[in-house]
Amino acid sequence: MEYEACRTLLARRLNRTRYEHSLGVADTAEKLARRFDVDVKKARLAGLLHDNAREFPVADMIREAKARGIPITPIDRAMPLLLHAPLGAYRLREVYGVADEAIARAVALHTVGGAAMTPLDKIVYFADMIEPGRQYPGVEDLRALGTTGTLNEMLLAAFSQSILYIVGQGHLVHPDTVTARNEILLSGRFGG
Ligand SMILES: [Fe+2]
Ligand SMILES: [Fe+2]
Repeated sequence: MEYEACRTLLARRLNRTRYEHSLGVADTAEKLARRFDVDVKKARLAGLLHDNAREFPVADMIREAKARGIPITPIDRAMPLLLHAPLGAYRLREVYGVADEAIARAVALHTVGGAAMTPLDKIVYFADMIEPGRQYPGVEDLRALGTTGTLNEMLLAAFSQSILYIVGQGHLVHPDTVTARNEILLSGRFGG
């Protein structure tokens, strides 16, 4: 399915706030893809559909994930909302006819990150954090970095911001976020 058809379908399935957030992520991902010479169409579509599984109530996430054979970790049980990322990757094909593995991966990793993130994965993760509708302390610094920084500088700042916030709230830190952040630090290449 092409972008416009996906957009129309998504508009019927998500509430207005989430739909508008999705449009913001699509636009932001598109801009970042141009800046980093990543496939613009894929970035825009991945941004548009990254939260598609938010159509499910949080109370249904574990059941829906189980039905698709998605592994459920103790952290997912404690925070079932996290499952909207892998669930959303499955729904791309089920509902939107999008079979692209790179897009599915970016959707699956958009919430907590993960090992060996591709530039597309990084762009969708970052776009989700800075799209124009987002408001939280520190977002302006991330937005500024989004226009000047390298992808790894941007992601390092985004992961650090996210981990600090989560720790401040007393919540669990997902090990995949730590893995993704450590990988950037260990690579020693903030230009990548
Ligand atoms: Fe999300
Ligand atoms: Fe999102």
